[in-house]
Amino acid sequence: MNVRREAAALTVEVDGEAETEALGRAIAEAVAPDTVVGLVGPLGAGKTRLSRAIAESLGVDPAAIASPTFVLIHEYEGEVPVFHFDAYRLPSPAAFEDLGPADYWSAGGVCLVEWADLVPDSLPPDAWWIRIDPRGASRRSMRIEAPGGALDRLARAIGR
Ligand SMILES: Nc1ncnc2c1ncn2[C@@H]1O[C@H](COP(=O)(O)OP(=O)(O)OP(=O)(O)O)[C@@H](O)[C@H]1O
Ligand SMILES: [Mg+2]
Repeated sequence: MNVRREAAALTVEVDGEAETEALGRAIAEAVAPDTVVGLVGPLGAGKTRLSRAIAESLGVDPAAIASPTFVLIHEYEGEVPVFHFDAYRLPSPAAFEDLGPADYWSAGGVCLVEWADLVPDSLPPDAWWIRIDPRGASRRSMRIEAPGGALDRLARAIGR
C-alpha cells in the first residue's frame, strides 16, 4: 500500500482486495459516530467492496452485508450502527433528500454513501470523500479527503 499525504487529502494506492480490506480497517479506526463518508467512482470501482470492509471492521456481521444497489438504505448493527446508502438508482437529488438523510447523519452511526457525487449538496460539510480510480484489474487509487484531525487519525491507523 503506497500512501501520499497532502494538506487536505491522503492518496492511497492499493493492489488487490486484501489491501482494500486493510484500508477499510484503518478507516474504521479513524471514523467516529456521525462520520459521513461519500464514496465516488465508476461502476465496479470498489465502493461496495470498501464499504463492506469498513462495516466488517466496525463489527457488522459480514453475512448481513448486501450490495445496496436495489435498496436505497441498509442499516447494520455493529459497534455503532452503519447506514449504507446508494444514490445510483435515485431519479433525482430531490428523491435522496426525501429519504431524510440529515436524520441519519446525526443518528450516532457511521454513514457510507455510494455515488455521493450525485447528491453532493446533501452531505454535511465535514463529510469524508473517497474517490476511487481503477488502475487495472486489481489496482485502485483512492483519494481520501476528510477534516484534518480525521486524516491524521487515518494516517496513523494505516501506519500501524
Ligand atoms: N483492490 C481492489 N479493491 C476493490 N475491489 C477490487 C480490487 N481489485 C479487484 N476488485 C474487484 O472490483 C470489483 C468492485 O466491485 P464493487 O461492487 O465494490 O464496485 P462498486 O464501485 O460498488 O460498483 P457499483 O457502482 O456498480 O456499485 C469487485 O469485482 C472486486 O472483486
Ligand atoms: Mg456498489
